[in-house]
Amino acid sequence: MGYESVRFPENTLFLVTGGAGFIGSNLCEAILNKGCKVRCLDDLSTGKQENVDLFINNPNYEFIKGDIKELDTCMKACEGVDYVLNQAAWGSVPRSIEMPLFYCANNIQGTLNMLEAARQKGVKKFVYASSSSVYGDEPNLPKKEGREGNLLSPYAVSKRADEEWAKQYTRHYGLDTYGMRYFNVFGRRQDPNGAYAAVIPKFIKQLLNGEVPTINGDGKQSRDFTFVENVVEANLKACLAPHEAAGEAFNIAFGGREYLIDIYYGLTKALGVDIEPNFGPDRAGDIKHSNADISKAKELLGYDPDWSFDRGIKAAIEWYRENL
Ligand SMILES: NC(=O)c1ccc[n+]([C@@H]2O[C@H](COP(=O)([O-])OP(=O)(O)OC[C@H]3O[C@@H](n4cnc5c(N)ncnc54)[C@H](O)[C@@H]3O)[C@@H](O)[C@H]2O)c1
Repeated sequence: MGYESVRFPENTLFLVTGGAGFIGSNLCEAILNKGCKVRCLDDLSTGKQENVDLFINNPNYEFIKGDIKELDTCMKACEGVDYVLNQAAWGSVPRSIEMPLFYCANNIQGTLNMLEAARQKGVKKFVYASSSSVYGDEPNLPKKEGREGNLLSPYAVSKRADEEWAKQYTRHYGLDTYGMRYFNVFGRRQDPNGAYAAVIPKFIKQLLNGEVPTINGDGKQSRDFTFVENVVEANLKACLAPHEAAGEAFNIAFGGREYLIDIYYGLTKALGVDIEPNFGPDRAGDIKHSNADISKAKELLGYDPDWSFDRGIKAAIEWYRENL
């Protein structure tokens, strides 16, 4: 279980784009802990300098401040790289509805530049962040690869387009690509601030500050909230996946189902506060329920997540208590 037994030769060089962000910085940390080298490429648009400063004194860590919208930057960043873990993108469904052109340029052209650079520089594997949003309005649960519905936001379009481009790079240019369809990831270093913050860190911060959080909708929506360590495991195992599994996208989740209202009251209890939430309108582009069938990743990547929601939320709360 997990990724303890995953091993790479010590001179292996990973490139993590978006490495100054939440998931990317957790990937950088895990790679350094394995004794390998990591180059982080990030434009610090939503990522943080402090997530770079954490590792900058480690001789196995290198930081390039740069934008994946620039092919030249991507080419330089891929020099000598064994594995690319492409996380750079802007998240948030509502923000993508406000700025579709930016999402196309940043999330689609950016990833296409990275694919092209990885191909030209002879990278071994290209693992990239996709999203459960590619399931759109498909109503059946659990969500299963190959059964996708109509897309509900420019963000979802950007992730779907990335998957299609990645498939072309496997088909025509022999680059082994693996798409990670993350389902609502949470854990240390996820940004609790701003209008587009994810719900778990936002609620934890508000409750710790004695503020009243707002739940969009009735709180009866459910998600397959996934602790970030499971996402790290999936990325590292995808780097060692067989060629036969390339050109595919995989659900990366725990395979559970949590209701937002239960999470809310779980947090108030764990934090020892007695605050009733406000309820606001549903958000455009959101679906009511989402949970994942993870059998494809289990079978083809050897993915075997060992962080349940309960175990992960305890670790996340502890981290926010110490770091907020
Ligand atoms: N967090 C989730 O629940 C979740 C769910 C599904 C998919 N994803 C995907 O996972 C990836 C990582 O998400 P995250 O939650 O860590 O977000 P994040 O905002 O914390 O990290 C993204 C990082 O990418 C960087 N970045 C953005 N555009 C860039 C560009 N043009 N050039 C260079 N760097 C750029 C940002 O500065 C940031 O550091 C994203 O691709 C996101 O769409 C996340």
